[in-house]
Amino acid sequence: MLLTIFGNGVMANAMIAGLLEHGFNIEVFGRDEKKLQTLSERFRSQVIVSVYEKGVDISGKNVILCVKPYALDEVAQYIKGRASTLFSVLAGTTIEKLQESVKAAHYVRAMPNIAAMFGKSTTTLTGDKESKEKALKIFGAIGKTLWVGSEKELDTATILAGSAPAFLALVAESLIDGGVKEGLKREDASFLAQGLFESFSALLDNYSHPSLIKDAVMSPNGITAKGYAVLEDYKVRSAFIKVYKGI
Ligand SMILES: NC(=O)c1ccc[n+]([C@@H]2O[C@H](COP(=O)([O-])OP(=O)(O)OC[C@H]3O[C@@H](n4cnc5c(N)ncnc54)[C@H](OP(=O)(O)O)[C@@H]3O)[C@@H](O)[C@H]2O)c1
Repeated sequence: MLLTIFGNGVMANAMIAGLLEHGFNIEVFGRDEKKLQTLSERFRSQVIVSVYEKGVDISGKNVILCVKPYALDEVAQYIKGRASTLFSVLAGTTIEKLQESVKAAHYVRAMPNIAAMFGKSTTTLTGDKESKEKALKIFGAIGKTLWVGSEKELDTATILAGSAPAFLALVAESLIDGGVKEGLKREDASFLAQGLFESFSALLDNYSHPSLIKDAVMSPNGITAKGYAVLEDYKVRSAFIKVYKGI
């Protein structure tokens, strides 16, 4: 299947590797010839790259929009024809807005995360059911997928799956800094933090609720219980709940 991607930034690059590995053919349209050339070299010319400024006919194609949300109107000016399906990874951009901007038979919003570059995205999808199977196949090439029933759910999932790598980066960095403060070498602290996240994934997979992981680690009057109380004192739980609203 040929996929037509608009945009050549972090997310486009992150997705292309997995898509190529799964046998998709890819053409990429962008505005900057130099950046497109760099992308083409990175993927050893397996991707066709072109500037979109001369106009692009998307009739019958499967298109993935990968530009910044505020760039949609600018890019849409150069797009002609009616796509088979328009997939959009643009955070916060509704299907209604996509319909006003680019013509397509069906529309799907997708929210991948940055781990797409390692085939480890967890991508939330929603939109026209006629394109559900196609969406699961395409975004399944970059990791796990979850189809949800509404755009509201997708917007919430954007925080949990799309933004949360940045929040967890803060957790990892501060645990490392704390370890260094207490005397660990930075490379040792980093090694331990990397191992922590890897093993934590196995724990989440195997325990039915996160609180059970805490119960399994915490002993009476132990260091975990004391550390946990510090996190509660500083309202870490409340802060994570509030990240969804950004307040
Ligand atoms: N990064 C993530 O973790 C993540 C996760 C989920 C969803 N997304 C979504 O993915 C999309 C792309 O994000 P990104 O992280 O790949 O950003 P990025 O690396 O900054 O790339 C943005 C892309 O948009 C183009 N662009 C920016 N401003 C433009 C304008 N005014 N007119 C035309 N094109 C313009 C850029 O073109 P130039 O290269 O020529 O500047 C580039 O191709 C966004 O809509 C974002 O919401 C990102």
